Amino acid sequence: MKTYLVTGGAGFIGSHFIRHMLGVFGEDISIYNVDALTYAGNLANLEAVKNHPHYHFVKQNINSPELEDLFKSHTFDAVVHFAAESHVDRSIIDSLPFIDTNVRGTQRLLDFARKYNVKRFCHISTDEVYGSLGDTGSFTENTPLAPNSPYSASKAGADLLVRAAFETYQFPVNIVRCSNNYGPNQFPEKLIPLMITNAFEGKPLPVYGKGRNIRDWIYVTDFCSAIQTVLEKGIPGEIYNVGGDSEKTNIDVVKMILEKVGDTNSEIQYVKDRLGHDFRYAIDYRKIHQELGWSPQVSFEEGLERTVTWYKSNAKWWQDIKSGVYMAYYEKQYGTR
Ligand code: NAD
Ligand code: TYD
Repeated sequence: MKTYLVTGGAGFIGSHFIRHMLGVFGEDISIYNVDALTYAGNLANLEAVKNHPHYHFVKQNINSPELEDLFKSHTFDAVVHFAAESHVDRSIIDSLPFIDTNVRGTQRLLDFARKYNVKRFCHISTDEVYGSLGDTGSFTENTPLAPNSPYSASKAGADLLVRAAFETYQFPVNIVRCSNNYGPNQFPEKLIPLMITNAFEGKPLPVYGKGRNIRDWIYVTDFCSAIQTVLEKGIPGEIYNVGGDSEKTNIDVVKMILEKVGDTNSEIQYVKDRLGHDFRYAIDYRKIHQELGWSPQVSFEEGLERTVTWYKSNAKWWQDIKSGVYMAYYEKQYGTR
């Protein structure tokens, strides 16, 4: 049986990954989820597995020295590192938390993982480390790093530290760089869940600039299967790009959401552009496809349909977030967040 340490597993993608792996491996896997429960962490995302005999939650900051206790008391086959400050707009307002978690936290985790001989370190990164594209071309694993926001710069910093652990100590790492994820359980500060929930509430839909910026969307379960593939077949030291073949302008995405939500009083509102707004991301994922045999399964049309349906049937989940109620709930259970 394999034992995995997952960081940031109470967030959007991490919680999907934990449910995915427990679903695939059942009792043949054991997962320890280390999460600090920042504003983005939500244990409601893990309701379905909270009583699973092989799932364990540890409320801990990856930047804390006490993290070592966990490595002392368990042998991990792999660390899958999702924990991060993840929102570009927040990084523009206040960058230091991004350095603390994404850079320092990653190094601390690497140090412990190496000291305790973890067999594989899978670092979850983003296509945003490559910077921005013009109208043509796509990012390959050899595209030079040119991050433009404090968020993407902190992720690029982390990527370089992970690379250094391989080059210096031959510590068996992989870096997985993925395009924009969407799906159920995404915190409603990111484009798709913000627009869906605002549309349900009849609120304005704030589109930055002219809405012509382009993102390359991937349904979250496709990313989870890509990470599983890298854990099983990835070559140590290698980087793998992951994408969903779904380039869309923001305005097209918002119009599709309006169509799927149907009856709403919400209107698109063009607002001031994001500072340093990256124009276009597009991922070339031929390497993971050709070398490891992975490809995305869910079309954007199908994934968006599932996502809108989920937000419609899970209004309490996002209403508790938007009203701040979910914070009070966890303070009661775990003390201050
Ligand atoms: P998220 O913001 O939903 O979740 C982040 C989780 O990390 C939360 O549960 C939070 O409590 C936890 N966390 C934050 N700081 C921590 C700390 N210091 N110690 C322990 N836990 C901490 O993020 P997400 O969208 O699920 O993204 C997960 C990872 O995937 C991130 O590394 C992100 O950079 C990367 N990524 C995200 C996307 C995307 O579109 N969402 C795309 C590519 C890559
Ligand atoms: P976001 O979901 O924040 O992801 P990222 O910045 O990491 O790509 O934003 C996706 C795109 O949507 C990006 O071009 C910014 C734009 N956007 C808006 O137009 N309005 C919004 O309210 C938000 C949150 C994003």
